[in-house]
Amino acid sequence: MVLLVTGGCGFIGSNFIRFHLQSHPEQKIVNLDKLTYAGNPGNLAGLEDHPSYTFVRGDICDRKAVGSVVQDHGIGAIANFAAETHVDRSISGPAVFMETNVGGTNVLLDVAKEHAITRFVQVSTDEVYGSLGPDGKFTEETPLHPNSPYAASKAAGDLLARAYHHTYGLPVMITRCSNNYGPYQFPEKLIPLMIANALGGRKLPVYGDGQNVRDWLHVRDHCHAVDLVLRKGRPGEVYNIGGENEWKNLDLVKLLLSRLNKPESLIEFVRDRPGHDRRYAIDASKIGREMGWKPSVSFEQGLTETVAWYLENEEWRRTIESGEYRDYYRKMYDER
Ligand code: NAD
Ligand code: TYD
Repeated sequence: MVLLVTGGCGFIGSNFIRFHLQSHPEQKIVNLDKLTYAGNPGNLAGLEDHPSYTFVRGDICDRKAVGSVVQDHGIGAIANFAAETHVDRSISGPAVFMETNVGGTNVLLDVAKEHAITRFVQVSTDEVYGSLGPDGKFTEETPLHPNSPYAASKAAGDLLARAYHHTYGLPVMITRCSNNYGPYQFPEKLIPLMIANALGGRKLPVYGDGQNVRDWLHVRDHCHAVDLVLRKGRPGEVYNIGGENEWKNLDLVKLLLSRLNKPESLIEFVRDRPGHDRRYAIDASKIGREMGWKPSVSFEQGLTETVAWYLENEEWRRTIESGEYRDYYRKMYDER
């Protein structure tokens, strides 16, 4: 069965494609990505000629384009990673979040229904649940209380996915994961931004008092969980995915600085993010019980690997900082 991965040139989508081609090299994957600022085909460098991999540039909001991809490639399953994902950008410009995360998801669900897709994973986030106090964790039954325009747009996408299962019997599973870290993450998110700034001798902007808590999971563990849900998940179900690994932002930034041998004087407290969620923590016992999933990468190992990756991949960082990564597509595809 051919798998359509949307948003495969982003951070998690590209890690998923690499993971998938390694675990199931025979299964064909089509990657549909619009190549927004966050999409970097260089994240998949080396796979251009892989016999099981095809890249199609396109927008999930474009009904005709999505229909053609599904029809032409005989798509049988969909994993939807494509999204606008940065909370700060959603605060300054929410419209595109509604277009892609709600409208685009709606298009994918419609096309999936028309073409009798047999598996559909909607990749979502713990942010749809809102913010926790000092105790407790999000379970799949926690009511949705999205606080940012990003979280609201993801929650709307989730509700559409749920409704398409309930109304039309579309075999949709929803995954809700905590904060990911690892290679190929765009340096606007906390960990790669702090690494890039520390290496560039720039200040590290910590929002508010730095006491907000996030539950960090290595991207490889997330990819494994999505793959399991794609194969074994029960249609109509939600699966939480998390790292059991809570960190206050300030402590994490200090840890990164110590790994990089840089001084804490680089930390700069800046104005808080409006509506900043205080704490996220995931109860991932359901996917553990049903599919035997649990995180396999310790934070110690994962962070060491990640810091080493950003240090070794200076060229990748440079092309992002200079904007040259946007030319990758032209060089690899248009000029062939
Ligand atoms: P990302 O921002 O790194 O990548 C998003 C990708 O989607 C990019 O390649 C972009 O070009 C593509 N895209 C955006 N709009 C598109 C459109 N209209 N049509 C086609 N492609 C489009 O995001 P990420 O961090 O890899 O997140 C992937 C998914 O995982 C998202 O759905 C996000 O909500 C979810 N998620 C992310 C995290 C995290 O920590 N990063 C945690 C939980 C869930
Ligand atoms: P981020 O990586 O944007 O993920 P999310 O908001 O989706 O959890 O941010 C993680 C945490 O780090 C969040 O509490 C906001 C904080 N943060 C900073 O303090 N400074 C920064 O420059 C960024 C990007 C984030």
